Amino acid sequence: MIKRSLLLSSLLLVAGGLQAQDQAPDLEKAKQTAETVCAACHSADGNSQLPANPKLAGQHEDYLFKQLREFKGWNGNPPVRENAIMGAMVAGLEEADMRGLAKYFATFEQKPEPAKSLGTIDLGQKIWRAGIP
Ligand code: HEC
Repeated sequence: MIKRSLLLSSLLLVAGGLQAQDQAPDLEKAKQTAETVCAACHSADGNSQLPANPKLAGQHEDYLFKQLREFKGWNGNPPVRENAIMGAMVAGLEEADMRGLAKYFATFEQKPEPAKSLGTIDLGQKIWRAGIP
């Protein structure tokens, strides 16, 4: 019994290892996609200049991956986060590509900038301190 469960757990470990290897993000590929596609809106280092395009630099890798997956939808489900632009961006990306891009953009530091819309400073401070449901 013990032997059998040991064998089973080794098989699971091997299978897990193979799966992890399958999905290991290719950072070179991510860099290329980031510089040729994403940079147009988010800048090559994720510090986008236009407020309409969120900054990706300094975000957590898991957060970025989650957003990309939600733009695309997974397990046959429709996108949870609907956006025409980003929907088109992720259409051709595999899960490993999205993991790679998330890991890549998470490596950059977000460059601080002065607030551009003074009217929202109070609201921003409130959300920062108390969160938003
Ligand atoms: C044509 C402009 C454009 C391009 C190119 C583009 N994006 Fe975006 N991206 C946007 C916009 C606009 C949003 C905000 C969408 C929304 O409001 O939901 C966004 C949102 C995101 C978000 C969510 C950020 C957050 O804080 O919630 C991620 C992650 C992201 N883009 C990654 C990428 C990656 C990776 C690429 C390259 C494969 C890419 N984008 C290419 C315009 C673009």
